[in-house]
Amino acid sequence: MISPGVMPAIPTVDPNPLPAPYWVLKLLLVVTFYLHILAMNLMLGGAALALVARLTSKGNPKRGRIFVDVARKVPTLLAATITLGIAPLLFVQVIYGQYFYTSTILMAWPWFLVLALLVAAYYGFYYVAYNGKRRPGAAGVVLFVSLALVMLIGFIYTNNFTLMQTPGRWAAKYFAASSGWNLNLADPTLIPRYLHFMTAAVAVGGLLLVLLALARWKHDREYAEYLFQFGGKAFQYATMTQFLVGIWFLISLPRNLRMIFMGDNPVATAMFGIGVLGALAAIFLMSEALRKQNIRMAAFGVTGITAVVILCMSIMRDNLRDAYLKPYFHPNQFAVKTQWAVFPLFLGIFVGGIILWLVMLKRYGLFNSTRPTEE
Ligand code: HEM
Repeated sequence: MISPGVMPAIPTVDPNPLPAPYWVLKLLLVVTFYLHILAMNLMLGGAALALVARLTSKGNPKRGRIFVDVARKVPTLLAATITLGIAPLLFVQVIYGQYFYTSTILMAWPWFLVLALLVAAYYGFYYVAYNGKRRPGAAGVVLFVSLALVMLIGFIYTNNFTLMQTPGRWAAKYFAASSGWNLNLADPTLIPRYLHFMTAAVAVGGLLLVLLALARWKHDREYAEYLFQFGGKAFQYATMTQFLVGIWFLISLPRNLRMIFMGDNPVATAMFGIGVLGALAAIFLMSEALRKQNIRMAAFGVTGITAVVILCMSIMRDNLRDAYLKPYFHPNQFAVKTQWAVFPLFLGIFVGGIILWLVMLKRYGLFNSTRPTEE
């Protein structure tokens, strides 16, 4: 940390004007991050639960089936995670370029490593999708390795996105190791923040299983009921754990930043309140749904509430970043020159792209039981 009263050196704002109003770019950043994190949760949580199913499948053929079934969906979900990650990456560079580039340079090597880790994990997930049934032993080991790799990627992301918002740490880090072999391990929020994301992924992975159960409800009832119980319970346990991890995260924040969720910032406080109440409601509704074997209650009710909770958390995360950067970041410093000729075109293509993507997922049959096939 630098000595009190000394402002860290921050690169100057890019003199190029923003191509659209600041609030539009901010909205797009939050929306696209939300989509990215939903896909990441489904992918990482799905892979984690497939692994649990594999590890507990001895003498339990239904667990073996869950492993094969869920592992087949993971490559598609990883593709969605990457594609939906590119959009917020662009917006974060436009709005927070000076901060994001600096932290990325400080931890250049781990950041570069993400590409290699991603390719290896992708390869592994494909191997498991195609060989899960034929070679469950080897596929289980490969799934474990690939899951560890994507978890490592998430860890590198949390390091970078915490480092970018703490300019006070930059100089010491640079002078201690200017080679780019840095992480942000001394930040007390790092581990709880990371665990908050990972625990959420397991909960959302549980919802993936519930949705898969819904798609099989009519034609494969016995298996679907088992899948529903397995996924629903995973959701419940992970969301209960989230209360502990969330409290840890909250108390790890510096006091002035924590207070934005407790009245200092009305939007952050409202999002926090809705998020906590929503999580409680989701746990309660899931236990009702499991007790009554009501798959629609879980697949629509709990999934809907959870989608709202994650949206609230995404907005809170953005409020928190701006609170961290408050001493340095002043959006009114940006010159804005809206490119009206291009901007509507961008929006049209953006919305069209999302619709096309949904149509594609439907055609591809993400929730069907047959693809990718090894038979
Ligand atoms: C495949 C494995 C991936 C995992 C597990 C993952 C996970 C995460 C996590 C946990 C965060 C939040 C970090 C934090 O705030 O502490 C995050 C943020 C982000 N990720 Fe990913 N990610 C993955 C891949 C990608 C890829 C390939 C891209 C880009 C092409 C990407 C783009 C982003 C961006 C831009 C943010 C931050 C957006 C913002 O600050 O508003 N991610 N990711």
